[in-house]
Amino acid sequence: MTRQRRITRRRLIAAAGALPLAMTAMTNTDASSAAEDLAVRNPRCEYLTDPLGIDAARPRLSWTLESGRRGVKQAAYRVLVASTPERLRAGEGDLWDSGRVASDDTAQVRYGGTAPLASGQACHWKVRVWDDTGATAECAPARWEMGLLAPGDWHGTWIARTTDTAVEAVPLLRRGFALDGKIKSARLYASGLGFHELRVNGRKVGDSRLDPAWTRYDRRVLYVAHDVTKLLKRGENALGVMLGNGWYNVQAKAAWDFDRAPWRATPRLLLELRVTMEDGSVVTVASDERWKTADSPITFSGIYGGEDYDARREQSGWDAPGFDDSGWQAALVVDAPKGKLAAQAMHPVRTDRVIKPVKVTEPEPGVFVFDAGENVTGNARLRLSGPAGTRVTMRYGERLHPSGRLDQKDIAVHVLRYGADQPFQTDHYILKGQGTEEWESRFNYNGFRYVEVTVVEPGSTRAPGKLTAANLTVNYFHSDVPEAGAFACSNPLLNRIWENGRRSYLGNLFGLPTDCPHREKNGWTGDAHVACEQGLFYNDGITVYEKWIRDVGDEQRPSGAIPGIVPTNGEWGYAFGAGPAWDSAFLIVPWHLYEYYGDDTALRAHYEGYKRYVDYLTTRATHGSPKESPTTTHLVKFGLGDWSFWKTETPVEVTDTGYYYHDARLVARVARMLGKDDDAKKYDALADTIRAAFNKAFFDPGTGSYGNGSQTSLGCALYQGLAEPENEPRVVDNLVAAIEKTDRHLDFGLLGSKYVLNALSDHGRADVAYAMAAQKTQPSWGWWAEQGMTTLLERWTLDDSHNHTFLGDVNAWMVKTLAGIRPDPSAPGFRNVRIEPNVVGDLTAARASYDSVRGRIVSDWKVEKDGTFRLTVTVPANATASVTLPVADPSTVREGGKSAVAAEGVRDVRPSEVRGKTLLSVGSGTYRFSGPLAR
Ligand code: BGC
Repeated sequence: MTRQRRITRRRLIAAAGALPLAMTAMTNTDASSAAEDLAVRNPRCEYLTDPLGIDAARPRLSWTLESGRRGVKQAAYRVLVASTPERLRAGEGDLWDSGRVASDDTAQVRYGGTAPLASGQACHWKVRVWDDTGATAECAPARWEMGLLAPGDWHGTWIARTTDTAVEAVPLLRRGFALDGKIKSARLYASGLGFHELRVNGRKVGDSRLDPAWTRYDRRVLYVAHDVTKLLKRGENALGVMLGNGWYNVQAKAAWDFDRAPWRATPRLLLELRVTMEDGSVVTVASDERWKTADSPITFSGIYGGEDYDARREQSGWDAPGFDDSGWQAALVVDAPKGKLAAQAMHPVRTDRVIKPVKVTEPEPGVFVFDAGENVTGNARLRLSGPAGTRVTMRYGERLHPSGRLDQKDIAVHVLRYGADQPFQTDHYILKGQGTEEWESRFNYNGFRYVEVTVVEPGSTRAPGKLTAANLTVNYFHSDVPEAGAFACSNPLLNRIWENGRRSYLGNLFGLPTDCPHREKNGWTGDAHVACEQGLFYNDGITVYEKWIRDVGDEQRPSGAIPGIVPTNGEWGYAFGAGPAWDSAFLIVPWHLYEYYGDDTALRAHYEGYKRYVDYLTTRATHGSPKESPTTTHLVKFGLGDWSFWKTETPVEVTDTGYYYHDARLVARVARMLGKDDDAKKYDALADTIRAAFNKAFFDPGTGSYGNGSQTSLGCALYQGLAEPENEPRVVDNLVAAIEKTDRHLDFGLLGSKYVLNALSDHGRADVAYAMAAQKTQPSWGWWAEQGMTTLLERWTLDDSHNHTFLGDVNAWMVKTLAGIRPDPSAPGFRNVRIEPNVVGDLTAARASYDSVRGRIVSDWKVEKDGTFRLTVTVPANATASVTLPVADPSTVREGGKSAVAAEGVRDVRPSEVRGKTLLSVGSGTYRFSGPLAR
């Protein structure tokens, strides 16, 4: 699918989310027109469509089934992987023929060929499936290609312009070469650090930005792979590379000391072009001392600071054949970064939308403020003409002073010389004076709603004229993960919260989940795990999470310790000790991937690290003198607690111990998955001990309360499964009472935001959770929206960052509890989906869809005026669902005009364990249930 078409589809989905519910609900015609035929769609390798540059030795293949028949199941599959499209067409799997495998697996089917896949190996594949009736279908041919797998497969060396890290201008690198004969195909592999822009014959390669993604470069360095066949030609060709400092050569002094990172060095490049000619010969052009280098027009490149570009320094045609580079210097051969080279098998950063400013103001003569109308991440594209030497300054920020000027204070706070000599989120462009000039920065990004622009002509201090909305557009970019979910309900405020959460989440996704896109851009671990479930509902983001979890593994010390931010500079964040509430991201994120994708790859890969982490916590739980008489209390207390809490602070020991318990239990679960029974027993026993210690220390049997009785303490005991079942009802009552005391407002921070709504819903009080979620007054998500915010914030006030994703788990809760799409932990990867809508408060309708690894799941309900509850459910092929309806008498549930008991695809209808509800078990298909709503 072309890029253009993809954007269009995304817009359609986004638009559908905004439509009134009545218009988005599926109609009967949809179902009756659906073909009964079995189809196999969406063949992917490592969760990517036809990827290049895969380095997993046994890549994971997946596909989805479609069928108009209810209850369809895959009975068997056969995967063929061939070295050429012709062989595949002939049905010959010369690399791998799985044979017919009786299985309902449609994801994580690993390549099983006996011969290891070689560097650059093209793999053409398809899958045939058989369903439970014997019907069969095959997917369209798909492909993947291996990257350059061993260091020895790269023919080039790392090259640079200089080794002086203080040099501010960043380099151009170029190489001309000739190709004789007809080109069959060409691949470009490259890692240009910090970030690179690759060019072939004057054109940019691909549409991604900010490649390669940030890693701890002394542990791992990513490279990208591109198909450049169409950019090359017979005869003279040229390769050009522009490099930016990115995170590799941070010059700014900021709180996290990335200027002192052990990897810090000047921008450098490793590149290999492999051209396969029609006659079968391969021409290789690699980075080496034959490359030429010069200063680029980018005279300053800073990940925090912005970019300066002097268009007068452009050298026209520098990236095209025939350019005279005799005045350029030879590139220096430099040391390779210490990190292992790895393929960037991940959705890259790309422009999502181009936004026209909604308003331009001139708060002071010659100072123009462009308002994007929403808080986004990316940059601005300038369009301007003027005399050569005219200097344009573009400053980015998310708030304005009362004067209407840009206010960067809150977001620049950690840049230590801000205001002295260190710029922050500021671009400078100097015009070359030729017609209308268009420019945007290449190697950084900003978090902003406003861009303040000043223009000064040479020899003048005044602006040359008025700027208008035609002079600037905004590029909104982030990791371009495919959209997976949508939510809408009859309460417009919640729909706004959903959109704001989505915008914040995406604005914080740049090859890693970050805390905020402006002030820090850091991979704070706590933020990542609390925001993970909402992220999985918004997007198919597993590739980014798996990459980042590898980053976390790269940072873990032999002691087991994990830094609060990943990547770190190698030091920062360890002594800081974010503690288990943050560090547990290492375990929690992979667990969510397992729940949502059914994929245990990350859990298995990091198992030893998990044990080390829990053992490390055990050392931190030891009180007394470790030498003489170590006593383990099994309570942990270090690091961060319920960060950004509203009024009531929760003891850190409560939440820390909750994570310690969770982690120990999780290690036991993974141990069991791996068949390590001794470990499983050991960590289960540890978990039992921690739970007992937690209850002894924090449970008050007299009152049925925990800790200081805060919403977070009570929520923690319930959500983490620490409360004894017999005490749960009293704990829930106490939680509800605590919430009633705040007039049904939240009184928690980051950790409580994960526990409280979920705990309430899981214990039958979704009504109270809804009351909190739908609040319009402070503190609430709705209050932010009512203040005109288009993102989620860092605090329950308007202070500090206006673009933090970490308090947004309310959106995952909306999908799980209001629309009612929930993963089933006993059948991960939506092999079985739980559909559990809740009719609460003033809500009369809710709808969510989620493109799971098995296909689209839809839950769409409304309550008619006469009290009839109607639910349309779509269960993807090869999955089942347990549907809980708020209808008291199972015999009154109807489906498509008849009793549900008699409906095709419905396997079981019975009273639910929850009073007043009916539980149905169904196979795949779209169902229209109705029945009298139990009140
Ligand atoms: C970040 C947070 C983070 C916290 C922990 C802040 O500066 O923005 O999101 O989790 O620090 O200390």
